[in-house]
Amino acid sequence: MIFVQSKEELDDILKKIRKNSNIISLVPTMGNLHAGHLSLIKIAKKNSTKVVTSIFINPLQFGKNEDYNDYPRTIESDKRKLEKLGCDILFYPKSNEEIFPKKQKIKLISSGDVGKILCGRKRPGHFDGVLTVVYKLFSIIKPNLAVFGAKDYQQQFLIRKMSINLFPDLKIITGKIIRDRLGLALSSRNNYLSYKEKQIAPFFFKSLQSGYELYKTGKNFPYIIEKVKNLLISEGFDVDYLEIRNTELKLTNFQNRDLKNILLGSVKLGETRLIDNIEFN
Ligand code: PAJ
Repeated sequence: MIFVQSKEELDDILKKIRKNSNIISLVPTMGNLHAGHLSLIKIAKKNSTKVVTSIFINPLQFGKNEDYNDYPRTIESDKRKLEKLGCDILFYPKSNEEIFPKKQKIKLISSGDVGKILCGRKRPGHFDGVLTVVYKLFSIIKPNLAVFGAKDYQQQFLIRKMSINLFPDLKIITGKIIRDRLGLALSSRNNYLSYKEKQIAPFFFKSLQSGYELYKTGKNFPYIIEKVKNLLISEGFDVDYLEIRNTELKLTNFQNRDLKNILLGSVKLGETRLIDNIEFN
């Protein structure tokens, strides 16, 4: 695996690779890689001939009181995992300036109204930050395809929307949510959970699953939301939001089943924010 820290060096390598008509894929991450990230790299490998993984933790997408400084940085073990999986190139910018040069004013990409709902409500500016970082990575690497996870449903939705306009030839693939054996969606932030919180955390997904069961029996949306919310509260979660939306992230009225619906939620366990979702098929 080639380890690159400068964008000029990466550009040279990619130019050579492109000459041999390779299909280049990109899996953007913030590192601290777990099986969720690795599943995306496996998808990238299947659908391309050269896989680039990026590890870049940027303050743009973190709010003032969020965990930018504490976010787990585990580059050596990440490298080993990527090597083992057969990733071709790891791009690990040596500093923020490598991506956002000090002399250039950062031109933020707006996530619009969809960036203000769900996770965006409590995290103002977060999705503008994500889109700006991803835009930069796409512009530098110019991949033919990029892979994102369904755990961050709103994120991959916004990236798809941005790409339709700004990178029309880029193919985006969304990989399914990878969970531990108890159903908890894998996340680097699960590391923050205490022993006791780790016992409670799997009930987040179990509660979403109960919502799906209610949906199958034909219950209306407000009823489902109310029931799942009560379940979560009784288990000790602080519910940030819980909403049923369609795959376009539009709120549908009570019973609309024309498009596929998704139950999306964000909860807090102590100081840790968890997000998850379940598609109603
Ligand atoms: P990060 O949280 O490191 O996630 C990188 C990618 O892994 C994202 O596409 C995310 O949806 C996916 N992912 C995380 N947990 C997953 C799981 N349990 N199953 C499947 N996929 C999972 O998301 C980001 O980084 C950043 O916002 C980024 C897109 C890299 C922009 O900075």
